[in-house]
Amino acid sequence: TVTKPIIALDGPAGAGKSTVSRRLARELGYVYLDTGAMYRAITWLVMENNINVEDEESIASLVANVQLELLPSDNLQIPVTVKINGQDITKEIRTPRVTNQVSKVAAQSAVREKMVALQQEYGAKGGIVAEGRDIGTNVFPHAQLKIFLTATPQARAKRRLIDLQNQGESNIDLDTLIKEIEERDYLDSTRAIAPLKKAEDAIELITDNLTIDQVIEKIKSYLILV
Ligand code: CDP
Ligand code: CDP
Repeated sequence: TVTKPIIALDGPAGAGKSTVSRRLARELGYVYLDTGAMYRAITWLVMENNINVEDEESIASLVANVQLELLPSDNLQIPVTVKINGQDITKEIRTPRVTNQVSKVAAQSAVREKMVALQQEYGAKGGIVAEGRDIGTNVFPHAQLKIFLTATPQARAKRRLIDLQNQGESNIDLDTLIKEIEERDYLDSTRAIAPLKKAEDAIELITDNLTIDQVIEKIKSYLILV
């Protein structure tokens, strides 16, 4: 039998990776893998244990024994249910507290080695839509279809603002969000290990003026060709 393809979606925060990947996976009957949720979960655990986010040694031993579970969510508003060492932290990993520290933890080699190994296990059988920063370049360099989603920081921050307002967070302003997004983009794309960047063979989609539906239609049209 022919194995089903791996679809890799990379790009910066707010480009639409999560929304697009989830819908694509559901429509195709593929597994959806949110790799950002994994780095967020580790970051939450680090902070919960009062470990400094730059303390690589302590973080390495924490990660060595971690039990991380990603379970499909039946709620379309929630990408995945995330459990760490048995505890459900689905909500906690999306807080600004975690968001603003995650890039520092995700830059560390011990963290990345463990997460990438788990991600490759998930994708071993194909039929997966995986989203993150280094999927096409590092996790699944042989993915049959690689998409790089982008938009200006302004457009991405605006989307995030709407998401936060819908979650009842009203005391965040657009300029702060633009700054935070730019800072995370910078850290993610300048780190030494597996930085955020478009794979040479990825198709770039600039989404400022595209709806989710339009992005999905485009990706499906590329999928026919693989
Ligand atoms: O949803 P959003 O774009 O805000 O972030 P995310 O996809 O949940 O990823 C959170 C953070 O995890 C990113 O800013 C990266 O620092 C890190 N990450 C990574 O290093 N490699 C990945 N494959 C996915 C996420
Ligand atoms: O996963 P990532 O951080 O790349 O982005 P997301 O969480 O999927 O998208 C952030 C928000 O922007 C969501 O509410 C999407 O519905 C919205 N969005 C949009 O309105 N139009 C797009 N082309 C992409 C995303």
